[in-house]
Amino acid sequence: MEQAQRLQRIPPYPFREIAALKAKMIAEGKEPIDFGIGDPDMPTPEFVIDALCEAARDPETHPYDESGFGTPEYKQAVADFGARRYGIQVDPDGEIQSTIGAKEALVHIIWAYIDPSDVVLVPDPAYSVYKVQTSWCGGAAYPMPLLAENDFLPDLEALPEAVRKQAKLLFLNYPNNPTGAVAPLEYLEEVVEFARKYELLIVQDAAYAEMYYDDADKPHSILEIEGAKDVAIEMHSLSKTFNMTGWRAAWSWGGAEHIEALSRAKSNVDSGTFMGIQRASSAALAGYEEFVPQMQAEYRRRRDALVAGLQSLGCPIEPPRATFYVWVPVPDGFSSESFAKKLLGDCQVLAIPGAVYGACGEGFVRMSLTIKGKDKLAQIEQAINNMREGGVAW
Ligand SMILES: Cc1ncc(COP(=O)(O)O)c(C=O)c1O
Repeated sequence: MEQAQRLQRIPPYPFREIAALKAKMIAEGKEPIDFGIGDPDMPTPEFVIDALCEAARDPETHPYDESGFGTPEYKQAVADFGARRYGIQVDPDGEIQSTIGAKEALVHIIWAYIDPSDVVLVPDPAYSVYKVQTSWCGGAAYPMPLLAENDFLPDLEALPEAVRKQAKLLFLNYPNNPTGAVAPLEYLEEVVEFARKYELLIVQDAAYAEMYYDDADKPHSILEIEGAKDVAIEMHSLSKTFNMTGWRAAWSWGGAEHIEALSRAKSNVDSGTFMGIQRASSAALAGYEEFVPQMQAEYRRRRDALVAGLQSLGCPIEPPRATFYVWVPVPDGFSSESFAKKLLGDCQVLAIPGAVYGACGEGFVRMSLTIKGKDKLAQIEQAINNMREGGVAW
């Protein structure tokens, strides 16, 4: 049967193809060292699992969460976390929405605001959801290049006046996938001012907000800026912070008007997060200060090993300041795709071609520090050796 034209407009989810390619290699008896998908390889902390087991045994957690926005306990845990971590005051009653992952919130906020031919400002390179969902709603995504010379921050001044006036949503994603960049507070202030002037809504995807390496680079919430709630909504997630990608536990916070719009869209599609998961997520947030530094230290070891290894091959690269992604410029003479193919074919190293994330991702590959299998540092060393032997040099 013919699929809807709406579905025909969108490509398959990119990682499905990469997963299929890897499965094919494994079937051929070749096991690549996998720097592909950014899915934490460490388990959810024991104290969160214990909280879930206990919550699952309580029949009160079993029905639908009829509140629609999330349980009062979870929203309070989120508000407390906001006050501790970012020094912000968020009203649990109206300014917080529990979501089934940040991805779901990103999808529904687009459906809540975008009509056919509306313009959405989308970073390039970026997580594919912003652009694909805009197109699914019939909207037009206008790319904002993230360039190394601008510290991978969109240059708002470069946007044509007509586009600024037409745009309804502006996507930000800091810390940034795939570049690993962070946004200084002054930059966020600039974007808030811009959004006020041009009457648009900032959607700040903060899925990697807790995945940073040094206190000096500690990411900010856009809600730290006075008045930001009028023009911004921010998506947070427990996925990467607590190794909980499969749990689908997250929240959005922002002004009540935008939270209500998100809530109305999503409550007509899904029926909320299992209340047992909301309870376990509350426990996770309460244990943030104890758990998260260990997670960061582990990725710091891996980051330092991979970056030093790449530098030893001549790669002109600095360590990323946040996220578990290393955004690697390709050597002269390669495209992002031909270099990723060389890595896979000659070095058994799986990296993602930067062009998958948009035209401005050309010239890079993304290597994720979430490496499956035992002894991560040994695998990183092996990957660098394979690259050296495979003739990779910058
Ligand atoms: C930039 C970005 N936003 C959101 C997500 C999705 O996060 P969640 O697991 O909370 O849906 C990802 C996942 O990789 C991501 O890279």
